[in-house]
Amino acid sequence: MCGIVGHVGDQQATPVLLDGLRRLEYRGYDSAGVAVHSRKGIEIVRAVGKLRNLESALLKDGLPGTVGIGHTRWATHGRPSEVNAHPHVAGPIAVVHNGIIENHSALRNELEASGYSMSSETDTEIIAHLIHRETKSGLDMLSAIRRALSFVEGAYAIAVLSEEEPDRIVVAKNASPLVLGVSKGATYCASDIPALLPYTNEMVFLEDGEIALLEATGFTLSKLDGTPLTRRTRKISWSPVMAEKAGYKHFMLKEIFEQPRALEDTLRGRLDRERADIATPEIGLSDDDAKRIKRIILLACGTSHHATIAGRYWLEELAKVPAITELASEFRGRDAVVGEGDLVIAVSQSGETLDTLMAAKAAKERGAMVLAIANVNGSAIPRMADGSFYTHAGPEIGVASTKCFMAQLANLLMFSIWLGRRRGTIDDAQATELVEGLARIPNQIAERLRETHLMVTDIVRDFSDARDVLFLGRGLSYPMALEGALKLKEVSYVHAEGYAAGEMKHGPIALLDAHVPVVVLMPQDRHYDRVSSNMQEARAREAKIIGVTTEGDKHAQALCDRFVEVAKTHEALSPFVTVVPLQLYAYCVADHKGTDVDQPRNLAKTVTVE
Ligand code: F6R
Repeated sequence: MCGIVGHVGDQQATPVLLDGLRRLEYRGYDSAGVAVHSRKGIEIVRAVGKLRNLESALLKDGLPGTVGIGHTRWATHGRPSEVNAHPHVAGPIAVVHNGIIENHSALRNELEASGYSMSSETDTEIIAHLIHRETKSGLDMLSAIRRALSFVEGAYAIAVLSEEEPDRIVVAKNASPLVLGVSKGATYCASDIPALLPYTNEMVFLEDGEIALLEATGFTLSKLDGTPLTRRTRKISWSPVMAEKAGYKHFMLKEIFEQPRALEDTLRGRLDRERADIATPEIGLSDDDAKRIKRIILLACGTSHHATIAGRYWLEELAKVPAITELASEFRGRDAVVGEGDLVIAVSQSGETLDTLMAAKAAKERGAMVLAIANVNGSAIPRMADGSFYTHAGPEIGVASTKCFMAQLANLLMFSIWLGRRRGTIDDAQATELVEGLARIPNQIAERLRETHLMVTDIVRDFSDARDVLFLGRGLSYPMALEGALKLKEVSYVHAEGYAAGEMKHGPIALLDAHVPVVVLMPQDRHYDRVSSNMQEARAREAKIIGVTTEGDKHAQALCDRFVEVAKTHEALSPFVTVVPLQLYAYCVADHKGTDVDQPRNLAKTVTVE
């Protein structure tokens, strides 16, 4: 987690650093700081809390200079405090760091034994001291960093300044994301693309074990062992406006409303309506590969994991291939049986989640083929995978994922149809229904969005004081119930549970009384009658029912205390419409309570720690 940013060029660095940090604040927001080369040497300003505190500190002190680095922190080692905030300094060296140094205790003991004293509790300060130690033997900044990093185990993306070399920044990376930006007269670095979009869309992604020297005229790239490298820049198609709020109160609301567009962009060019098929030339799997797959393992975390549960149901139903879902953190923590014949699908909005990356890597090493579904082009998971199937949701800034979840569902369904066509498990009529149905979904969502927002706002007025909320669904509505509960927990801090409706009587029914709203997902699918019965059971315990029902379904609506209507779809497509009111429910409760919707406490958007 944490975000880093750097600028070397002909304009003042501080405004660029602050602007970049603002766009990276979703990665961590418990303290922030900048270091700039000024006439007096390296000057540093740090502040605890949100970025605005750093901005106020900088208003007082100013920080003139054209070369600088900045950091926004999500605490791992050491509590949030000014002294633990980055940049960290040792002698002439200042460092910002995203990641975790695993052998930091051993290194700290070694440095302290040879007379170094630390002023913070962080693992990052150790990197600063190691670099300082190496410069003492006469090495330049680049060589000193190379040597210092040879002692370091763990994940890092670092940006370093040295008083001795005021026109340069050195950056290096292992297992944490780092992107460079190049424009006329300036070179930049950042943890993520949106930080650089206002300045350039010519970008270069660093690989693990690489180091780069940044100057105003460009960058020099090499491996940590000194081997020189050349890499062309890549043009990023996202525009800076895509990463702005565009008049919405919060990014989360904007991103919920962007879902029809995110879906359209993700489906574009992939729905082959003439052949009732899916066109996925980029996946890199042949028709023969599709037939040879014996099992699919879907790996992901959090919201992306919920998308994979829907993916599993689709894969089994449409492609008749055995499929399992695993939380990436659990999969990598045990001796999972995986190997040739297995296709691992690693699903990640950021493409950088460490648990998903490591789990997919482990599966690949054991002979499985890995397909990445990610939203960030060139991110770590697609880079390590055998093939990639990108979602095109655009940059997602709200920490709670919404439009990327929607786009992940689309890719998982499209892949299931693609596989089913190749394995001969879906006929033309079924494929036509699905492809045509999917093509209609963006409009069906768009047509109801405003009304749904109004209906949900009204419902939330009556239920905003609830301390616990239960979400129930069966079949494809089960992962949507999980997702509804997760969204509510993360943005409003209300306790919520998502349950398979059939499981209610095995435990959670004990929670029900007149104070617990139960959100029941009731699309008109094969589970409808059984979900109606579960709803009756909840009503009999005096629970208040909020139904997510198909438009015009008077029977279901009569069973509910309050209801929201969603469009009628093919039953395999119901998740695309049922999840929208749940996202809005979480948003409206959070907004009503006045929580920090886009940056909920303790969370970070990209989780690059274990
Ligand atoms: C919840 C949320 C997280 C992420 C999870 C995985 O709204 O966003 O649960 O889904 O941290 O992140 P990615 O998809 O980037 O791997």
